[in-house]
Amino acid sequence: MKIFKNTRLLLSGIVLTGLILIFTTIAIVAFEDEDTVEDTLAQLSDSDDECVVCHSNHTPGIVNQYGQSDHFKNNVSCADCHEVEEGYAGAVQHPEAEFYVLPSSSPAKCETCHRQQVQEFNLSRHALPAYIAYAGTDGLSEEHLALYESIPEGGAMPGGRERNSLHAMEGPEITRFACETCHNIGKPNEDGSVGDCTTCHLRHEFNLEQARKPETCNACHIGPDHPQWEIYQESPHGIAYMTLGHEWNWEAEPGTLTVVDFPAPTCATCHMSGFGLSATTHDVGDRLTWFLAAKISEPRPNASENRIRMQNVCLACHSSNFVEDFYSGADLVVDAVNDWVRLSDALVAPLKENGLMTPAPFDEPIDYVYFNIWHHWGRTAKFGAWMQGADYVQWHGAYEIMHDLSELREMVDAKLEAAGLEPLDLPENFPSIDAARQVIGEDE
Ligand code: HEC
Ligand code: HEC
Ligand code: HEC
Ligand code: HEC
Ligand code: HEC
Ligand code: HEC
Ligand code: HEC
Ligand code: HEC
Repeated sequence: MKIFKNTRLLLSGIVLTGLILIFTTIAIVAFEDEDTVEDTLAQLSDSDDECVVCHSNHTPGIVNQYGQSDHFKNNVSCADCHEVEEGYAGAVQHPEAEFYVLPSSSPAKCETCHRQQVQEFNLSRHALPAYIAYAGTDGLSEEHLALYESIPEGGAMPGGRERNSLHAMEGPEITRFACETCHNIGKPNEDGSVGDCTTCHLRHEFNLEQARKPETCNACHIGPDHPQWEIYQESPHGIAYMTLGHEWNWEAEPGTLTVVDFPAPTCATCHMSGFGLSATTHDVGDRLTWFLAAKISEPRPNASENRIRMQNVCLACHSSNFVEDFYSGADLVVDAVNDWVRLSDALVAPLKENGLMTPAPFDEPIDYVYFNIWHHWGRTAKFGAWMQGADYVQWHGAYEIMHDLSELREMVDAKLEAAGLEPLDLPENFPSIDAARQVIGEDE
């Protein structure tokens, strides 16, 4: 009995010591964490950086975000990004002071420390092509035109003009909050630099986790004509992200990411991150084979190198047979959608030949139906296939294409009949893909 009692005492002693140890460890860890935040705040409030001291009162939100950033930890100061010489394009005199600041800090400032990222960004469609998509090339400087022409996949995509006309028709009151909000990712700045890094790197934290998460891309890659975000959400990769993503290593050092950090990919993993054998890039076109957003998709100038770079990412998680099989299947979807879009061209051809469609864009219902076929449903079907969104290939894609093709046919016939002309002569299986190939003469 006594022995038992002593053993029990001893045991409780051990358990108690254990518990004390555990709690002490937790407490130390917790305090350490708190210390870091407190440290940061203390460092911020002790700061002898006059910008930080004064802005803690005037714009505490900015100073707090800056305090969380790697920039603060690495002694990158407010002045590094904002202070400029008098006369620098875009500079304003700082309120109640002698010095000059650039309120809209530009990539020219980032470039002093992040040259490679800025150069890669400049050679991507996120840069000048995105801006030219709504604004055209009028008013661009010689340097900007030369930069635009040096982008391998930079040229305007077929069909682009039609949307430029939407920009003009809607007017600046609307487009400031529409086209421009998304496409100014590549707008030239007064100092000659291009674009806005803060579309993906929210200021002033410049936090990697935030940039890597797909919600960042969803600011623009969303909606009926480019539903990459919606597609991703229904893909197995997106499901992995939404169910287990909270366990992933979001802060991993760039260029070193592995399947341990990210067991499934996000938008950034496939299109930007250094992963598998592919190096990190800020050129989001670097891994793309097709011009999928174009009316008729054609291969890109560097298609085969780009394809290898994207497949290198897939191959970190999938076998080469799986990836090859997937790619050849998705290529066939591009061919099929191209053929349906060519059919829509064939349907309206007699109207164009006989002057039965007004030359003005978007002034009659038929313009919208014809446009939706490629701009919404055709693209959606292609994106859905390439990024694993079955619903977008089917119900928001192929089904809508066929629906609108039948509507287009009725509209064309009505116009032909009204002009005393013969209606369209189409195969019985219209609007199937076989019929499309019969009409456009690619029947095998
Ligand atoms: C003595 C206080 C004080 C100091 C020091 C100070 N600022 Fe400011 N700053 C302000 C105030 C006040 C404003 C105006 C805020 C507003 O409009 O709400 C301002 C505005 C700014 C703006 C926006 C200007 C604009 O026109 O939109 C920038 C950028 C800026 N400060 C950067 C800096 C930098 C960089 C430093 C250090 C080199 C600095 N500030 C030092 C008080 C200060
Ligand atoms: C790594 C670069 C960087 C650092 C460091 C930085 N900023 Fe900025 N800041 C920017 C960028 C980029 C913008 C947004 C420019 C744009 O898109 O118009 C901006 C915008 C601003 C603005 C104007 C917009 C607004 O929200 O009012 C102010 C004021 C400002 N910063 C103050 C500061 C102060 C104060 C600090 C230091 C505590 C600081 N910044 C540190 C890059 C930086
Ligand atoms: C004066 C130099 C300097 C300037 C200017 C500068 N940065 Fe940085 N940046 C750094 C340093 C240093 C780091 C930390 C590097 C590291 O962790 O390897 C960093 C890190 C980053 C990171 C990664 C943050 C992380 O959590 O690892 C991003 C994103 C970033 N900068 C974006 C920008 C952008 C955008 C601009 C311009 C608006 C800019 N930087 C301006 C020096 C600078
Ligand atoms: C502020 C809006 C915006 C954000 C945020 C944005 N993009 Fe884009 N993206 C665009 C626009 C606009 C285009 C089309 C540019 C053009 O071709 O005219 C585009 C094009 C692309 C392309 C096709 C490039 C090509 O060569 O055709 C890819 C891939 C892409 N983005 C990936 C991403 C990823 C990944 C993210 C998030 C990490 C992202 N984007 C965030 C606006 C944005
Ligand atoms: C919600 C953000 C958003 C809005 C608003 C938006 N776009 Fe886009 N736009 C994009 C994205 C993202 C792409 C890239 C699609 C892709 O590559 O898959 C794109 C692609 C394009 C393209 C094809 C690429 C090219 O350079 O030829 C054109 C043209 C275009 N947009 C013009 C416009 C015009 C004009 C408006 C306004 C009437 C507009 N966009 C409104 C995000 C937007
Ligand atoms: C389309 C969204 C997007 C835009 C626009 C963008 N970045 Fe990034 N950036 C990212 C993503 C995503 C990462 C993380 C890459 C990874 O996973 O390693 C990143 C990482 C970085 C890093 C960390 C080091 C590295 O190379 O990974 C720096 C520095 C950086 N960006 C600077 C910039 C600068 C400067 C600009 C403007 C010229 C810019 N970024 C524009 C999405 C973007
Ligand atoms: C599993 C990897 C993967 C993920 C995750 C992924 N993509 Fe893609 N994406 C692709 C592939 C593959 C293509 C087609 C490549 C080609 O043309 O060969 C593509 C095409 C695109 C295009 C079309 C470019 C064009 O030619 O018009 C855009 C834009 C895009 N992705 C953006 C995104 C965005 C935004 C996300 C996240 C919401 C995302 N992607 C998620 C692999 C991925
Ligand atoms: C970081 C790892 C990773 C990368 C990189 C990756 N995937 Fe996946 N992929 C997964 C996971 C995990 C699943 C879900 C498997 C499941 O459903 O059980 C998946 C599922 C898929 C599926 C559906 C498979 C099925 O059986 O339904 C396809 C298709 C696919 N991936 C294609 C790709 C392509 C193409 C790429 C490159 C552009 C790619 N993946 C890149 C991890 C990855």
